[in-house]
Amino acid sequence: MAELSGRVALVTGAAGGLGRLAAHRLAEMGARIAVVDIDADGAAATASEVAVQHGVPSLAIAIDVSSSAAVEEMRAAVERELGPVNVLVNGAGILMLGSILDVTEEEWDLMMAVNLKSVFLVTRAVLPGMMETDYGRIINISSLAGKVGGVMAGIHYGTSKGALLSFTKALARDVGRHGITANCVCPYTAETEMISKFSDQQVDSMRDMNPMRRLARPEEVAAAIVFLASPGASFINAEMLDVDGGFTAD
Ligand SMILES: NC(=O)c1ccc[n+]([C@@H]2O[C@H](COP(=O)([O-])OP(=O)(O)OC[C@H]3O[C@@H](n4cnc5c(N)ncnc54)[C@H](O)[C@@H]3O)[C@@H](O)[C@H]2O)c1
Repeated sequence: MAELSGRVALVTGAAGGLGRLAAHRLAEMGARIAVVDIDADGAAATASEVAVQHGVPSLAIAIDVSSSAAVEEMRAAVERELGPVNVLVNGAGILMLGSILDVTEEEWDLMMAVNLKSVFLVTRAVLPGMMETDYGRIINISSLAGKVGGVMAGIHYGTSKGALLSFTKALARDVGRHGITANCVCPYTAETEMISKFSDQQVDSMRDMNPMRRLARPEEVAAAIVFLASPGASFINAEMLDVDGGFTAD
């Protein structure tokens, strides 16, 4: 399957977890891959793995995606080395816990910068290049927490992911006329490094409260991402795709 042959996919947060798997799947579909993450070693490892395993050109870029200057340098490097971005997966994110009385102003600002502002910055940076091509897909990784206010995640995490849903809907209205789609995936708790923030007891109860009595597997989330990136999803726009075992049921 080489449905994305000749295309460029940029995945933020691709040093680990869901982003890394999405990068692998997009490479398997033939895309050239830009791996963007604050973790330089992890980004380099993913970029080298996808090149070796799938035989596609790749590029690792270590930046903080909440820095507009760094994002602009990243865009220039990706366009120079790989070409304009066709598929953007905004996956970089952080999780923190805490109710309103626990969260500090600094934690709130950091959460909004990494989980929300970064998506605006990276999307805004690559969009002009994407518009000049004939293929554009933007996939934002929101969360179940964005839909229901968070089950165990912090109030600032749920807020950032909820805002990402609205951002994606507004973006979809903006870019649709250019043949570009913008969608979200909304995963249930998935087995990645991120959930080490939760206690074992919290993880057990999230497993128990899901209709399918388990957590999401990272590959199940990656499958939803690559579907939205694929040619077959060309008329799916402003969709909030739950990968939650039926938990939200909306
Ligand atoms: N794992 C889950 O249960 C779950 C559920 C719903 C949504 N999500 C979302 O999925 C996305 C991926 O999460 P994951 O589970 O793979 O977690 P992860 O911690 O394995 O991956 C997140 C990646 O983002 C990178 N990152 C963090 N801050 C960054 C910054 N400022 N600049 C650049 N990169 C940065 C990290 O280095 C890491 O590689 C996140 O947006 C997360 O909120 C995860």
